[in-house]
Amino acid sequence: MRVVLLGAPGSGKGTQAKLMVEHYGVPQISTGDLLRASVKSGTELGKRAKVAMDNGDLVADDIIIGMIAERMKDDDTKDGFIFDGFPRTIPQARALDNIFDEMHHPLGHALLIDVDAELLIKRISGRLTCGNCGQMYNDFFSPPAKEGVCDKCDSDNLIKRADDNEKTVRHRVEIYNEQTRPVIGYYDAQRKVVKVEGVGDIDDVFARVKDALR
Ligand code: AP5
Repeated sequence: MRVVLLGAPGSGKGTQAKLMVEHYGVPQISTGDLLRASVKSGTELGKRAKVAMDNGDLVADDIIIGMIAERMKDDDTKDGFIFDGFPRTIPQARALDNIFDEMHHPLGHALLIDVDAELLIKRISGRLTCGNCGQMYNDFFSPPAKEGVCDKCDSDNLIKRADDNEKTVRHRVEIYNEQTRPVIGYYDAQRKVVKVEGVGDIDDVFARVKDALR
């Protein structure tokens, strides 16, 4: 399985990617997660990326493409992967095609998760992630059973992302429309795009994802 997940901020790419990892047994490669790890560990790359991330802007293509090229050298990518949040620009999509050419394996699908813009704002401003096990919650739609405590691992370290405030989210959606929407057309021209409705229960969305990838 070699899949690219497309969709606006908050459309559910990370949520569905985690279910796909369990179901299909291939790794999730999230550029957002890789960048946040670099910011946390204070690397040079993290320092360069932080300002753009905090503002809701895209990180420079050369940083992202270099990071992906490194990640693709890891053994766990041999049998497939799910890209979450990459590619986000046409130059990134072209660079990924070059990587596929070198691997002699084509992309399977570009899976587009479609969600209305206003719902995205609510989803993102309510998002909480467990700092211990990565389980995701939402204050409005899927809160943990006990406030502030992870259902899965009992940790009380539920984190709100620095860029998950309404002002930054609105900007991220604008950036998505300007710079990332064209990537849908790029994959459409290759007849790779499959689209699923991203509204409804998370498991129902996942059932649509499995159908679309069948
Ligand atoms: P990144 O981490 O990729 O953020 P994003 O694309 O903005 O996407 P999100 O993680 O916000 O949303 P998601 O679609 O994964 O939704 P989720 O499943 O979490 O990027 C962050 C930043 O890093 C960027 O702004 C940029 O600066 C930089 N960056 C990253 N990649 C880059 C690249 N390739 N190039 C340049 N810069 C890059 O769900 C959201 C919420 O909704 C959760 O609370 C969840 O529980 C809830 N939810 C999910 N599904 C449902 C459902 N069906 N019903 C109800 N609630 C739901």
